[in-house]
Amino acid sequence: MYRSNTCGELRIENLNQRVTLAGWVQKVRNLGAMTFIDIRDRYGITQLVVEENSSEEIKSIATHLGREFVIQVTGDVIERASKNSKMETGDIEVLITELKVLNSSITPPFTIEENSDGGDEIRMKYRYLDLRRAPLKKAMILRHKMAQSIRTYLDKEGFLEIETPYLIKSTPEGARDFVVPSRMNLGEFYALPQSPQTFKQLLMVSGYDRYFQIVRCFRDEDLRADRQPEFTQIDCEMSFVDRDDVISTFEGMAKFLFKETLDVTLESTFPRITWDDAMARYGSDKPDIRFGMELNDITTEAKSADFVVFNSADHIGAIVAEGCASYTRKQIDELTAFVKRPQIGATGLVWVKFEEDGNIKSSIDKFFTSDQLKAWGDKCGAKGGDLMLITSGTRKKVLTALCELRLELGSRLGLRDKSVFAPLWVVDFPLLEWDEDSQRFFAMHHPFTSPKQDQLELFSTDPGAVKADAYDFVVNGVEVGGGSIRIHDSELQNKMFKVLGFTDEEARKQFGFLMDAFQYGAPPHGGIAFGFDRFCSLFGGSDSIRDYIAFPKNNSGRDVMIDSPSTIADAQLNELCLELTKNDDKE
Ligand code: AMO
Repeated sequence: MYRSNTCGELRIENLNQRVTLAGWVQKVRNLGAMTFIDIRDRYGITQLVVEENSSEEIKSIATHLGREFVIQVTGDVIERASKNSKMETGDIEVLITELKVLNSSITPPFTIEENSDGGDEIRMKYRYLDLRRAPLKKAMILRHKMAQSIRTYLDKEGFLEIETPYLIKSTPEGARDFVVPSRMNLGEFYALPQSPQTFKQLLMVSGYDRYFQIVRCFRDEDLRADRQPEFTQIDCEMSFVDRDDVISTFEGMAKFLFKETLDVTLESTFPRITWDDAMARYGSDKPDIRFGMELNDITTEAKSADFVVFNSADHIGAIVAEGCASYTRKQIDELTAFVKRPQIGATGLVWVKFEEDGNIKSSIDKFFTSDQLKAWGDKCGAKGGDLMLITSGTRKKVLTALCELRLELGSRLGLRDKSVFAPLWVVDFPLLEWDEDSQRFFAMHHPFTSPKQDQLELFSTDPGAVKADAYDFVVNGVEVGGGSIRIHDSELQNKMFKVLGFTDEEARKQFGFLMDAFQYGAPPHGGIAFGFDRFCSLFGGSDSIRDYIAFPKNNSGRDVMIDSPSTIADAQLNELCLELTKNDDKE
């Protein structure tokens, strides 16, 4: 037996017990007569002590220990003279009677403690060392517990976990596919699934009316803090359901997860907001509703004077920052610079201060009277002490800028407390999105999403105006999940492919298997997929999903630890009949 206890286990109740521990040396402190060693494993840290009258052999081994050596130690649990209330094992220490080095370690490239001195890149390169640190261990444990709770809930609800293939067919919709050449079918490629969407629909045709899978998905898209090229979904599908059935089943799952993992009880029903409302009120289809500061449309009111900037704009929008009338010039300049950043692209910011004493000051005093400004303030609910910020342009630009500005102000004003959770459902998304560049419609969700039942006629006459039976689950401004009721009628599915610009031949080539399957009695069905990594980072209070993935990729899609992607041998290329052409752009 290597150990009798773990390094996180011993307490004052274990006093005088002889124990054996095994783990890594975190720290050695040699104080002359005494040597203290911190030993660490997955469960915690225990202090070991070598005394003046310990054996010469133990003293000699102790002086030669380095950080991250693996040791096995036997000793007696004794009460510490100076207790450490910050450590769970801080009341005791183990007086060593036997000490054995199980393996040595070269000096690690960064300190493996709660707060490391290592930068991001070096910690990613040595991820297996970083994973020894407490914050990452905590993240891995959280992820494991969440996966367990999800399985418990879905099993109880009658869902079957069924695996679907990773080597599938490339499809042109959605993000870019990762492709895999086939040796046995030269010149042909598999694609890694962006999601198991079509397979879960086929499982419904097969009669498995409640399916789920905690499954890896692959998307070759630009990466951000909440996007990885391979990520995990909690993928689910149900038959004989309408939107409200799906929503209520998964609202139940979310509540169960919050309760089991965080001991947070959420109010009985999550709010639902239509996509149109979400855009108008928050400028976003994933609104953070932990705080108000909603967007206002003052286009009509603000076009009443000789102010060219406003008069030439399609849309004029405003938000009111409560209690911010005291903002300095510098603070407002910072906010202006913030919205003018290229990724946001606003042309500028107009401010109006409603001071406590009733005075109104603004950057557009020349063009508007106090009465006019007061009328805008009244429309937007501004009180004495508030600051109103206004921007103009196309509606899309204004909504984007005010959405970002609202979030920035929310953060600055401490309104986005990570321990507060504000979930909601965004419903009634547009079915289609028009793309100016390619002059065609794209499915806003995916091509299998059904138009709302009462809009089937409109789908034939004005597809661009049709709303989808689609829903997103949003918490604190994060799109945690999304799904829809699907088309289950092969004729409607055909029509959809047509609207998306597929010829009959293309549709058959890409999705013939699904269209065929739909002719054999496809039940009405719908489902949802949650971003499991996003769920974990939300629960853990981090903005980056990387912290919750054991071996993530960096922002260029590289695994710097294993150095991937990498070139492959000429022999491998030859075997696959692949030839690399020179890519001048990349050189
Ligand atoms: P969707 O594309 O909305 O829907 O994805 C579902 C959820 O997966 C998460 N997600 C990601 N997480 C990390 N990195 C990424 N690159 C990434 N992309 C998406 C998000 C998102 O809400 N088949 C449909 C679901 C359905 O209709 O049932 C689908 O994949 O949290």
